[in-house]
Amino acid sequence: MATTCSDKYIIHRGLLLPKETHTEESLRFAAEFEFKNDDVLIVTYPKSGTTWMQEIIPLLLNGGDLTPVTTIPNWDRVPWFEETRLALVLDKLKSPRVMVSHLPYNLMPSSLSSSKAKVIYVTRNPKDAMVSSFHFHKMANFLDDPGNFQEFMDKFLTGQVMFGKWTDHVKSWKHADLGDRILYTTYEAMVENLPGSLGEFSTFLCNNLSEKTLLGIADHCCFKNMSKNPMSNYSLVPKEFMDPSKSQFLRKGISGDWKNHFSPEQDLKFSACISEEMKGENLCFPWCG
Ligand code: A3P
Repeated sequence: MATTCSDKYIIHRGLLLPKETHTEESLRFAAEFEFKNDDVLIVTYPKSGTTWMQEIIPLLLNGGDLTPVTTIPNWDRVPWFEETRLALVLDKLKSPRVMVSHLPYNLMPSSLSSSKAKVIYVTRNPKDAMVSSFHFHKMANFLDDPGNFQEFMDKFLTGQVMFGKWTDHVKSWKHADLGDRILYTTYEAMVENLPGSLGEFSTFLCNNLSEKTLLGIADHCCFKNMSKNPMSNYSLVPKEFMDPSKSQFLRKGISGDWKNHFSPEQDLKFSACISEEMKGENLCFPWCG
């Protein structure tokens, strides 16, 4: 059962979730959800490239046709699995349905593993995810004020932020028993070589698109172009909900912005904490080497 935590959050199975978009009913709907064999689920820890994937995957599945991404807001095009809106838009989703989730694997319904649904899990350097989240908390009025940067970092490292600890999230999905139905990728790989990442997703989704189509999708999804798409840049959202004068949702779109925010001491402390919690996981990320 979900309990109320502050006026902005509920706690569901130990996780802090924004009350504005998550209710007991929406979480029950998710827990009882029956995945179909051709469903595609994108999974991210918050601020790791979710919106980017809500643009990319419909384009790949539509052979580069821009109609869905220029006519349907991202939250209805690829709805959040655990949020209230899913029940309202589910019937409108065309097959293959694409949904997105921030939930850890242990909160997924059993139908995810018993079906043949596919999952793409995107990780981002936790330092950059934290920086992005810090700015997001300033502009999103449905979240608590982040406090100062050090205070927010302490909350992030101890999991007192929405969806809990980054390390728990990554570990839960690393151990998901989905075999070859899960593809792991990183925000950094996408920044480094977007057409290459698109090719990988296209192969995984078995719709092997031509080089020309992939390049066209990459062009539409580059930060500069995507930032101009009102269906994806959150400019349709009322200012009382997200205030772009405080920070843009599509803010910088780069890897390594943490270097502009962390002091050397904060870097050491953050790295030590993450390394300690990831000990023995044998995970190799682009930002580690
Ligand atoms: P920054 O705040 O570092 O700029 P999410 O969608 O999971 O909330 O993640 C938001 C982050 O992804 C933001 O990071 C945003 O700018 C970035 N992002 C969204 N679209 C992007 C794109 N096309 N290219 C690069 N980064 C993108």
